[in-house]
Amino acid sequence: MRDWSKADWVDPRYNWQPMPVPDMPDRLLIDFATRCNLRCHMCPVWGLEDDDQIDPLKGIMNLDAARKMLDEFTKKQPMVAPSIYGEPLLIPNLREVFTDMKRRGIAIAMNTNGLTLTEDLAEFFCQIKVDSIMFSLDSTTPETLKKVRGVDKLAKIEAAVFRMLRVRGDREHPRVGVSFTTQGTNRHEEQAFVDRWVGVVDVVRMGIVFENGTFPDMIEPPKRVPCAVIYKTMPVHNDGSVRLCCLDGVRATDMGNVFDKGVEAIWHGEEFAKARYYHETAQWDKVPFCKGCNGWAQYEYSEEVKDGLLIRRSPEYSYYNLIDRLDNWTGNLLGGHKPPPDALRGEQNAAQAQDLALP
Ligand SMILES: C[S@@+](CC[C@H](N)C(=O)[O-])C[C@H]1O[C@@H](n2cnc3c(N)ncnc32)[C@H](O)[C@@H]1O
Ligand code: SF4
Ligand code: SF4
Repeated sequence: MRDWSKADWVDPRYNWQPMPVPDMPDRLLIDFATRCNLRCHMCPVWGLEDDDQIDPLKGIMNLDAARKMLDEFTKKQPMVAPSIYGEPLLIPNLREVFTDMKRRGIAIAMNTNGLTLTEDLAEFFCQIKVDSIMFSLDSTTPETLKKVRGVDKLAKIEAAVFRMLRVRGDREHPRVGVSFTTQGTNRHEEQAFVDRWVGVVDVVRMGIVFENGTFPDMIEPPKRVPCAVIYKTMPVHNDGSVRLCCLDGVRATDMGNVFDKGVEAIWHGEEFAKARYYHETAQWDKVPFCKGCNGWAQYEYSEEVKDGLLIRRSPEYSYYNLIDRLDNWTGNLLGGHKPPPDALRGEQNAAQAQDLALP
């Protein structure tokens, strides 16, 4: 960790005691291809009204440059999300890109709209042991899907989820989930979504929408703390530029270019150091992108074991994990999350885990 305590932007009156920063990020978000076959209304990039704003953000990552970046992760294998504002199934040379990452011991965790998942691709994901595939559904009816994601092809997306489950069968990987981002247009289907999918897929993720620079539905603890995001996650856009946070789809922040400078120089570089310093000394005005955001509140999880499920809740997410499909949620796929309790691991424990009280 570099020492920035003497930098000219450090005000000695704050008596800054820098918090530890991991050598390398736990989670790497890589926008291999900023292209999409949908234009979801909520999407910070594709939901923009003005195509002139979207056009400069589109692009395909140079694979040699991406490989060089991944070469730096020799000691630590991160969890990689292969998209930020792209649809990962539309990455050119998808098979080559994913195979290369798995050879490096990287855990691949992707979100997808599922529209182009073929049987063949599903089998490929099983064979290379992609770690996790989360289908973004956000609805239980075609009418609501249309409002949230701009298409009414609910049957097609649900068929893709079942295709993935069927092709995988009893194999351990990938972990298969569905997600729901609650917002005004789908709030009435929240419970119906839980009822429809819990018990069917390995994990159901319920989240809340980010809009107008914050999460309106987030219930915040009273005291603001430094946001864990800037200590765990490095988002890399298709041109190698690194942004403060994945929520910055429109490139309002600029931490430098990882293809030019390398991971270490960016992750421990001046821009990230400044952002961390301002968070740690509560100078929120100095980080305009974070100033009005309550995303810092997302990391405190509570845990409950009930009806064959490990349920984890934070102010942003609820995860309903099937206990008898927990064995595929390990290692770097945890991406910095606490592992599930040992008592819940292994099929033999699944039955005993029912209604086990955890501290
Ligand atoms: C940006 S998408 C990229 C991957 C893929 N195209 C998909 O939709 O799953 C990643 C995830 O962010 C969610 N998302 C999109 N816009 C959001 C917003 N404004 N607030 C919260 N989540 C959002 C999507 O539903 C999806 O689960
Ligand atoms: S499918 Fe994903 S990337 Fe595409 S518009 Fe929707 S949220 Fe954005
Ligand atoms: S405060 Fe919000 S914008 Fe800033 S890093 Fe955290 S989640 Fe991202």
